[in-house]
Amino acid sequence: MTVHFIGAGPGAPDLLTLRGRDLIAASPVCLYAGSLIPPAVLAHCPPGCQIVDTAPLDLDAIMAQIAAAHEGGLDVARLHSGDLSVWSAMGEQLRRLRAAGIPYTVTPGVPSFAAAAAALGAELTLPGLAQSVVLTRTAGRASAMPQGESLAAFAATGATLALHLSIHRLAQVAAELIPHYGADCPAAVVWRASWPDQRLVRGTLADIAAQVGDGIERTALILVGRALAQEGFDDSRLYAADYDRRFRGGRGDAVAP
Ligand SMILES: C[S@@+](CC[C@H](N)C(=O)[O-])C[C@H]1O[C@@H](n2cnc3c(N)ncnc32)[C@H](O)[C@@H]1O
Repeated sequence: MTVHFIGAGPGAPDLLTLRGRDLIAASPVCLYAGSLIPPAVLAHCPPGCQIVDTAPLDLDAIMAQIAAAHEGGLDVARLHSGDLSVWSAMGEQLRRLRAAGIPYTVTPGVPSFAAAAAALGAELTLPGLAQSVVLTRTAGRASAMPQGESLAAFAATGATLALHLSIHRLAQVAAELIPHYGADCPAAVVWRASWPDQRLVRGTLADIAAQVGDGIERTALILVGRALAQEGFDDSRLYAADYDRRFRGGRGDAVAP
């Protein structure tokens, strides 16, 4: 028996990895975080699968479900939205599984920031504008930010920001960022990236909060940075005609622009 942690992607049922889909289809028990995973993803579960929404459960109750499956010798597909490496609460579950000697695997998923960038048709790292993406959030009711990880500290780098779990603070976030990025800096909000009712709002730090208004809450990402303008950047060296590189008969062994 194994617990398979699977990044379930941003919502669209065909934005799972093939491995994730196959593991779901082969597992007789499925525990899923119902607040962010739409029912369409559960269509990959096999007939007769025991499907449990863990949104109303605490950690002990979730571990009790896993322990019961373990006793029954039943594999578990454990689904969390997006990828598991960020804000999945996987770490605390793995710690318990290690302590209990229950085997597990981890299968990555499409993170929501990538789905949001795709919806906008945006490359977040454009030459001369931004070469880093910061995945961050603002403090929540249950989660303080560690010292040093302030929005201002990240903003001072000028990197593209992907702000999770923060849509309810949009106006405050924009006001905090304006001194660093400028009021005219492009900003976008993507609500439910890849869901059938996905919504996009594009603006600047000066007007994004007004544009979004009260209509968008919860499952939304805020993206901020000059790269979102999709103009005013240099071509990369990667495809430059005079760039000497091994895949086009050059001598060099360079692999990056
Ligand atoms: C608990 S975190 C989960 C992040 C997830 N593990 C990932 O890889 O994106 C939830 C936050 O992710 C963002 N999010 C998750 N799915 C999203 C989607 N389909 N569209 C926009 N934002 C999403 C929102 O900011 C939401 O508040």
